[in-house]
Amino acid sequence: METPERLGQAHFITFTCNRCHRVGSSGGTDAVDLTFVGFRHNREWLDLWLKDPAAWKKDTTMQNFHLQEKTRRELTAYLASLKGQNFDKVGRPWNDSRIMSDFLERGRIIYEKAGCIACHGKASQGGYPNNNVPGGKIPPLEAVADGYTKEELAGFIKKGRKPDKADPNGPEPLIEMPAWGQVLNDAEVALLVDYLYSLRPKGRQEDAW
Ligand code: HEC
Ligand code: HEC
Repeated sequence: METPERLGQAHFITFTCNRCHRVGSSGGTDAVDLTFVGFRHNREWLDLWLKDPAAWKKDTTMQNFHLQEKTRRELTAYLASLKGQNFDKVGRPWNDSRIMSDFLERGRIIYEKAGCIACHGKASQGGYPNNNVPGGKIPPLEAVADGYTKEELAGFIKKGRKPDKADPNGPEPLIEMPAWGQVLNDAEVALLVDYLYSLRPKGRQEDAW
């Protein structure tokens, strides 16, 4: 008996999702890495995204594949199962021996490959949409050095957070800040914190007198 996950994994190739997306060490690099996608997103959101990407994010370059209900459910089951285990086989890409002493570069790679970028956007661009949150967007991170000490930032990343609702009587936001302490160790979180601090907008660090 084929499990829904296995069927979904096969659809991932049939529908050429791997042309743009990478899982572990295989697939393209034109779009966000999906090795941790099942950790950072819940099934409800994954299903909604696959149903119609542009309904969630107007300007997305991911097409609507017009998947049949059963196919979509199997793909969602596969995606929901991806919680980083495919890096265990090949090594986490930020631990590549050639970059071990380049701490900022390693932090940047974690930001990309663990998928902070999937919600918070590229360093300078800011966040992706969310439902029923103030401003309708996930916050950008280039200025977090101004709002948090390094210790606070590490604690926040490890614990995660449910966003506040814009309309208290409205639905729960479908996207939450995950508790990364479940899948990243303290050293990895420290690399992220240094990377985020390095994004502080230029000029501000000279404010002291
Ligand atoms: C032409 C490239 C392309 C193809 C092919 C493609 N995607 Fe995407 N996908 C994207 C882009 C780009 C994004 C990020 C959203 C954005 O910035 O527009 C994305 C986002 C996603 C996300 C959300 C990731 C996250 O963590 O937020 C999932 C899940 C996803 N794609 C699954 C799939 C599946 C499953 C297929 C095949 C049925 C597929 N994609 C095919 C380009 C592609
Ligand atoms: C699935 C989407 C998602 C992913 C992936 C994600 N975040 Fe978040 N993050 C959020 C949301 C939503 C919030 C806003 C929470 C709130 O409203 O308090 C947030 C808030 C934050 C904040 C606080 C920003 C502020 O201005 O207070 C930091 C720092 C942060 N995230 C860091 C990270 C890092 C580092 C990663 C990668 C390891 C990451 N996030 C991955 C959704 C995500």
